[in-house]
Amino acid sequence: MHGEPMTILVTGATGSVGGQIVSQLREETVRPFSRTTGGDLTDVDSVRAALTDVDKVFLVWPFFHTEGLGEVLDAIAERAKRIVYLSSAGAPEWAREAEELIEQTGLEWTFLQPTGFAANALHWADDIKTHGVVRTPFGDMSRPHIHEHDMAAVGVQALLTDKHVGARYTLSGPELVTQFDQVKIIGEVTGKDLRLEEETPEEARARMLVSGWPEPLVDSALEAWASMVENPEPIVPTVEEVTGRPAKTFREWARDHLTDFTP
Ligand SMILES: NC(=O)c1ccc[n+]([C@@H]2O[C@H](COP(=O)([O-])OP(=O)(O)OC[C@H]3O[C@@H](n4cnc5c(N)ncnc54)[C@H](OP(=O)(O)O)[C@@H]3O)[C@@H](O)[C@H]2O)c1
Repeated sequence: MHGEPMTILVTGATGSVGGQIVSQLREETVRPFSRTTGGDLTDVDSVRAALTDVDKVFLVWPFFHTEGLGEVLDAIAERAKRIVYLSSAGAPEWAREAEELIEQTGLEWTFLQPTGFAANALHWADDIKTHGVVRTPFGDMSRPHIHEHDMAAVGVQALLTDKHVGARYTLSGPELVTQFDQVKIIGEVTGKDLRLEEETPEEARARMLVSGWPEPLVDSALEAWASMVENPEPIVPTVEEVTGRPAKTFREWARDHLTDFTP
């Protein structure tokens, strides 16, 4: 599958999906890129400097806007021939704009459009470790939470084979799990006595604003979560179709992250 040796730049390399891409690319030369490694996506010169001899790019764009992305893509298109972009299911504005910008570059592209990340539950880790009470709105909201391992496994196929050029893949986990059940599953896996205490949307809004979420994002997130109680994101077979292995369940994700939830 691997053919010629190649160099792959991975942005978001210290994050959940980029980190998995780095660890799953075993035979290629991987160039991890993030502020921890001295790069900065808001500084196009630092991107350019990291692109020497790069053939392909896995792009995590960790912002809720596309300011500066055009320049970064121009720099990538000067050097590389393929980009795999971690987009988002449900087409939020910034992801749609990013996809349009990428389509204009002439690069070979694949767009991964995942549903909610299982890794979002890491936001509960401190509460779980300290007092066992998770506070969140919409306990009955269910999502087909996707394991970062599976997003990366699809991303690796898109980077290394030519079969996925031009594909837009919605990616999901294998089953819908409510937030009440997520907390129950983490409790079972860790052996802890955990409880979800439902916040009102107003309480959640205030907390999110205090923790630094931009106001428009808070409102659109709360609106999306409210609608997912009745209309959850779809379960799709793409992970298994592309990788040949079934998508991992939320319970498997929780087991893989046991140490994140135990002191
Ligand atoms: N959470 C969800 O449910 C969900 C659903 C669909 C799509 N998404 C998309 O997934 C992406 C996030 O992926 P993730 O969860 O794997 O990321 P993550 O774990 O939040 O990590 C973010 C990464 O970006 C790097 N980073 C942040 N600012 C940077 C900068 N100025 N320059 C260079 N690197 C920077 C961070 O590393 P350093 O700190 O070292 O810089 C880190 O490696 C976002 O684009 C989001 O829209 C998320």
